[in-house]
Amino acid sequence: MSVPTPYYDDGKGIVIYLGDCREILPHLPKVDLVLTDPPYHGVVEESWDNQWASDHEFLSWVNEIGHLLDNQLVDNGTVYFFASPQMAARVEVALSQHFTVIAHAVWNKGAARQGAAGSGVDITALRTYWASNTERVIVAEKRLNAAYLSADQNAQQQSGYWQACEGAKVSVFGQYLKSEFKLAKVTNTQIADLFPSKTGGRTGCVSNWLLGLNVPTAAQYQSMRLFLNGLNGAEYLKENYEELKENYEYLKENYEELKENYEELKENYEELRRPFFMDANDQWGQVWEFAIERDRKHPTQKPLPLISQIVKVSSRPSNTILDPFMGSGTTLVAAQQLGRKAIGIEISQAYCDIAIRRLSQQQLPLTEPLNGSKIEPQEELYGTSTVRGNKEKDFVGKLRKNTD
Ligand SMILES: C[S@@+](CC[C@H](N)C(=O)[O-])C[C@H]1O[C@@H](n2cnc3c(N)ncnc32)[C@H](O)[C@@H]1O
Repeated sequence: MSVPTPYYDDGKGIVIYLGDCREILPHLPKVDLVLTDPPYHGVVEESWDNQWASDHEFLSWVNEIGHLLDNQLVDNGTVYFFASPQMAARVEVALSQHFTVIAHAVWNKGAARQGAAGSGVDITALRTYWASNTERVIVAEKRLNAAYLSADQNAQQQSGYWQACEGAKVSVFGQYLKSEFKLAKVTNTQIADLFPSKTGGRTGCVSNWLLGLNVPTAAQYQSMRLFLNGLNGAEYLKENYEELKENYEYLKENYEELKENYEELKENYEELRRPFFMDANDQWGQVWEFAIERDRKHPTQKPLPLISQIVKVSSRPSNTILDPFMGSGTTLVAAQQLGRKAIGIEISQAYCDIAIRRLSQQQLPLTEPLNGSKIEPQEELYGTSTVRGNKEKDFVGKLRKNTD
């Protein structure tokens, strides 16, 4: 397949492709954040959620999607992948074949579910298991190589910041003292005891010398030399004190310049890190409380505030966000509002049209999609429906219909 033609392009960085994401993804540029709510597998009574004959088939598909997404993600990118409570553990394992899982968040829609009791549904009729009043979100980052470097570690190495941090710890004088203490098999405290404070206590002078914060005086250097040489007949601290000190002074003079470079490297490092920008008002834990979307254009439309929080926290303003299972385009709306670029992929033309309407901030009657397209009979897109279910699920389905 050649590079696909977008179904919609607003000219400002929001693009939609109509089709199966597995065919479109390999042709797209890399993205900074994948935020997606894929089919759950037999949870809602929609054909797109009932394409698989077994859990095993569904998980193989998740594996295929994970592989494709891995190829699309930049090194410091993040993945947010929604899953049903029933499948979340297994989806997490499937995704961990490709990514490093960093969190398993829970969207708690419990308050709304309890409300169902008041809306005529008899929750006392639940007899086999606890109703699903949550959705799960697997959060993962890129796995960078066989050593499983995290995005942050990688950023440290790429920016040179890590080397600078290590380098900053090295002082010629400090290193020399350290190696001599090691050779003589003495501890830092033994040396520190040679230089008690006025009240007889121990000071941090030795640590300061080893870290390169300052240097011993000539008299202190001589005291250490005498102490070490008296230990076992060997000769220690043979280097000339004045030369070591000169070296130290030289480094100190260059300190301001070094510090400037260091700050620059630090800035590069911050740029290269996996974005994570939490505000005081954000829900900082792994349980998120957001009201369900009542005015839905799609049966599983996510609340915009929930999706917006993810976009804001896990991307930078210049970033591109990908949602390969776009549905009614909630991710794209959040991206648009927050000034990010975004790519959406959706297999149903009717949902693409709904997303375009939302992006254009027009009122949308569900029965009248754009371009004269109709909401496709879902079986035509996915083949025979294989609704998994049992009585309890049917009941929960009804509960959901009454509440979501
Ligand atoms: C759970 S819904 C997403 C709802 C979305 N989060 C919203 O807020 O509207 C999953 C969507 O994935 C679409 N889909 C299923 N298989 C697909 C595929 N292979 N490629 C692209 N879209 C697909 C379905 O049509 C459905 O609209």
